[in-house]
Parts: sequence; C-alpha cells; structure tokens
Amino acid sequence: MNDRMLVDIAIEAMKNAYAPYSGFCVGAALLCADGGVYTGCNVENASYGATNCAERTAAFKAVSEGKREFSAIAIVGGRDGKISEYCSPCGICRQVLLEFAQKDMRVILYNGENVRSYALSELMPLGFSKENVE
Ligand code: THU
Repeated sequence: MNDRMLVDIAIEAMKNAYAPYSGFCVGAALLCADGGVYTGCNVENASYGATNCAERTAAFKAVSEGKREFSAIAIVGGRDGKISEYCSPCGICRQVLLEFAQKDMRVILYNGENVRSYALSELMPLGFSKENVE
C-alpha cells in the first residue's frame, strides 16, 4: 500500500460524503498497522455540531473493529467534491488520531496534483496523549 493508493481510496470514500449544509466533501483512508484499511467520509447533521469529520468516521470504524494502531491516513476534500487544495485534518481529528497513532504515523494530503506527507507528531507538537495520563 503506497501513499498514492491510499489517496485513491480516500477519493473514492469522499463520494459518500453527506454534506448538504457546507457542500464541503471529505474522504479519508486510514491504514492500520496490520495492513487493514478503513474509509470514512464527513457526515453532517441539521444540528451542525453533531457533524462527524471523515477522519473520525474512519478512526471510529477501525477502533470499533478492534484496531488500536494507526500507521497512516490519507485525506482529501473540496467544495462539491472538487479537490483543489490540501485538506488538513481539524484539531479534534488530530487529537483522535493521536490516541491510536504509531510513533511515526503519517498524514497524507493531496491537492488534486501533488501528494504531501507529514508526520502526525509534526502536525501535533506537544500533543496530549495517553503517555501524559499513564
Ligand atoms: N471536515 C472533515 O470531514 N474533516 C476535516 O478535517 C475538516 C472538516 C468536514 C466537516 C464538515 O462537514 C465540512 O468538512 C466543513 O467543515
């Protein structure tokens, strides 16, 4: 599974985005340490605060299937599903990913042209994680 393959799975997942309020569609493909891939899309709600982001949809699907170690996540998004900019994960999603992130977990972004890869630790400096609680 390479970065580009994971991006393509995220693009496919974005097609299921339920975004009637913002019109902003997001797809995610989460790679777990055992090689399993879980997809997610954003799911909006008439009560806006009840909206779930694509990344958290994928993360919660994986955890609910027993997965506890994330290796990488590809994220794509854009207005009406047109990808023209990098879609960086929101703060809440970064926090959720950190909970299950391998030390070197990567976040893969795509702007319709180029793929960029970041360490989650780079996007989450001084993050609060289970090590702080243990
Ligand atoms: N959204 C995501 O799915 N992931 C992000 O990281 C950023 C935002 C969704 C939430 C909402 O449905 C729409 O994008 C606009 O904020």
